[in-house]
Amino acid sequence: MEQNRQSTVIITGASSGVGLHAAKALAKRGWNVVMACRDLQKAKKAAESVEMPEDSYTIMHIDLGSLNSVREFVNNFRASGKSLDALVCNAAIYMPLLKQPLRSPEGYELTVATNHLGHFLLCNLMLEDLKKSNASDRRLVILGTVTHNPDELGGKIPPRPDLGNLDGFAAGFKEPIAMIDGKKFEPVKAYKDSKVCNVLTMRELHRRYHESTGIVFSCLYPGCVADTPLFRHHYPLFQKLFPLFQKYITGGYVSQELAGERVAAVVADPEYRQSGVYWSWGNRQKKNGKPYVQQVSPQARDDEKAKRMWELSEKLVGLA
Ligand SMILES: NC(=O)c1ccc[n+]([C@@H]2O[C@H](COP(=O)([O-])OP(=O)(O)OC[C@H]3O[C@@H](n4cnc5c(N)ncnc54)[C@H](OP(=O)(O)O)[C@@H]3O)[C@@H](O)[C@H]2O)c1
Repeated sequence: MEQNRQSTVIITGASSGVGLHAAKALAKRGWNVVMACRDLQKAKKAAESVEMPEDSYTIMHIDLGSLNSVREFVNNFRASGKSLDALVCNAAIYMPLLKQPLRSPEGYELTVATNHLGHFLLCNLMLEDLKKSNASDRRLVILGTVTHNPDELGGKIPPRPDLGNLDGFAAGFKEPIAMIDGKKFEPVKAYKDSKVCNVLTMRELHRRYHESTGIVFSCLYPGCVADTPLFRHHYPLFQKLFPLFQKYITGGYVSQELAGERVAAVVADPEYRQSGVYWSWGNRQKKNGKPYVQQVSPQARDDEKAKRMWELSEKLVGLA
């Protein structure tokens, strides 16, 4: 982005993995990075571990699983007097071995609360900050994943994501309801459902606000970053074999450093100034290492579902 003042980006979940390396990559490009993290000490250590210059970042507290915490974060950010040029919704949890759902302080199932509802509220509130920025180029980027898409090889492994008619959201999404479709709790599906919501959120943000604000909304799939702590709640054997499988069998593996660079490119480079799209570095379609605009899954491109998801999410986060 060509601007005189230093650009500011907020990255959620910048204390490890893709978010940390995106923070490093953007700091290297001269951006002021706000690392929005739930564990401040861990974030500080993480920034030091990748040798981010001290004056290139600030760390601010956010727990995306708590709507109050998201609101507090927004207030604190505004109180800092910074203007906002880009927001990266990156934080996520994946807890495949859970037998029973965990709950957010509001009583919502925690995976969807963290990955989708917290970010949904954050995006809606921070739109105002992005609008106020005097930068000509402002972007809101959400991390996607191949597992949201059953049209893809990586998305064919069951359980498949399915929001159904969002009956679980419509019924309030609290005990005993644990899934967006209102059906039985399945932790892996909860993660995939939340990532479908991430894509629907991006598309609906684009539909509602791109033309009137000029803000660029996009998602990206940086490749399979198979050795991040995202998989820390999986079986140890899975954690050992998954990176090898992705490196040597599917070829989908990407390092955390390269994934971070890819996020930084989508945030900052002129060639990614397209709104409403999903950039993919998917392994099978890789064209000389270049990403392409990929069609999202049938559910994620369903406009009626996007509207229903938006309206129900607004109610759940207290915006309606
Ligand atoms: N790994 C992959 O293969 C892959 C592929 C495609 C897309 N993605 C996407 O990339 C993103 C980052 O994943 P990753 O692989 O880098 O995982 P990761 O290393 O586990 O990073 C997740 C980040 O989210 C933070 N986080 C979790 N819950 C939070 C909460 N309640 N409030 C605030 N922050 C929270 C974590 O904080 P703590 O450090 O405190 O736990 C951590 O900083 C996710 O959106 C994921 O869906 C990953």
